[in-house]
Amino acid sequence: MTENKGFSSNFGAIMAAVGSAVGLGNIWRFPYICGKYGGGAFLIVYLCFVFCIGMVLMMTEFVIGRRSQHTPVAAYPILRPDKKGWRYVGIFGMVTCFLILSLYLVISGWTLNYVVDAASGTLAQLDSSGLELHFKAFSESAVRPIVFLAVFALLTVAVILGGVQKGVEKVSKLMMPILVVLLVVLCVRSVTMPGASAGLDYLFKPDFSKLTGQGVLAALGQALFSLSVGMGVMIVYGSYIPRNDNLLKTSIWITVCDTLIALCAGVAIFPAVFSCGLEPTGGPGLVFKVLPTVFNSMNPSSGFMVGTVFSVIFFVLLSMAALTSAISLLEALVAWGSEYPNRKRSVSAIVLALCVVVLGGLCSMSVGGLSGVKVAGLGLFDLVDKLTAVYLPPLCALLTVAFIGWVMPAADIKDELSNHGTLKVGYFKAFYFLARYVAPLALLLVLVTGIVNG
Ligand code: PHE
Repeated sequence: MTENKGFSSNFGAIMAAVGSAVGLGNIWRFPYICGKYGGGAFLIVYLCFVFCIGMVLMMTEFVIGRRSQHTPVAAYPILRPDKKGWRYVGIFGMVTCFLILSLYLVISGWTLNYVVDAASGTLAQLDSSGLELHFKAFSESAVRPIVFLAVFALLTVAVILGGVQKGVEKVSKLMMPILVVLLVVLCVRSVTMPGASAGLDYLFKPDFSKLTGQGVLAALGQALFSLSVGMGVMIVYGSYIPRNDNLLKTSIWITVCDTLIALCAGVAIFPAVFSCGLEPTGGPGLVFKVLPTVFNSMNPSSGFMVGTVFSVIFFVLLSMAALTSAISLLEALVAWGSEYPNRKRSVSAIVLALCVVVLGGLCSMSVGGLSGVKVAGLGLFDLVDKLTAVYLPPLCALLTVAFIGWVMPAADIKDELSNHGTLKVGYFKAFYFLARYVAPLALLLVLVTGIVNG
């Protein structure tokens, strides 16, 4: 991987990483768990985790990637040639990326289908029970979700085939600003609805009685998932970051943007949901059932269908957020594939995408026709969901941060963070302490609790 294959500028690097970070997690998960676990109280804990652990992991991954100029599989042995076994941590991360991507593409396909359903007016004709039935019939059908999954995979591959600069970077630079504009439009609409303040209270009013131990762990899990750290995506993006970039500043930018967008998503969603007297929820229930009901309530009985316009805006926004995240996951896998001699990037991209579509297709069918097929007592969709939500990312994150804290020489880390001594790194001691003790302990706790709770 030579340097001219990386991002062209600091701005490009930030946009690509923000593109990876901002995804379904920001829009349908963060606002809901924030409200559920005490609004402002949860937010305080979340911000601590995001900056003290999530951002440390991001810097960790950037250091590993930029210093080695390789994907995780090759990076670890390059940085510690005497400890070749660490390559398995890299492979483990890539397997995690593969599984996350399979599921991510299924849900992204649903989102794309809803762009079509919103634009064609199908959603506007349904009441809330009709929307419920519509989602059930769609997600359980054998063909349509897989067609949309394949279309979404095709879009992702098309961007990857464009290359790192002309594909990944260019698309992120285009889509992220559009996403922000669309989000602001939705925010303005949401907060100007009657009774919107109940939604803002739900999101921001601190209620420490709701902040349970489970809420604290959810905050850490969400911080990692939202920043796309733990499975090696940011190691690959780190290998594309220009040599003269300040890794601390870049990480701060990405973390701040990701967090602000998650907060804006909450403002765009919950005031409107409360204004319509609906129950707050998260995940597919929120996006595919509750929100279309909200949009429909904006449509007057005759004339211009305002709600339909907002509905299309929302699903386009969600699809764009999902696309830039899916791109980063596939890019990580493709970069790994291309590290092998005589393997073309384009061939890696197509073969890997096909594999992802096959697993994603099976996950999709496990919601409908194949729902009777169980592995370890769970349908395939639920199994992959559980693995990628509870077990694999914290374990992978733990190993990654342990490498920086305990295996990679501290002098090398400092050298990379300071751009070979040209930047001041007064924060190094604090960073090293967090990477060596705080982050591993917190991750261990998340992991053990996840295992104990099944
Ligand atoms: N950060 C993305 C989101 O919030 C998900 C993601 C996780 C993307 C890991 C890449 C790697 O939805």
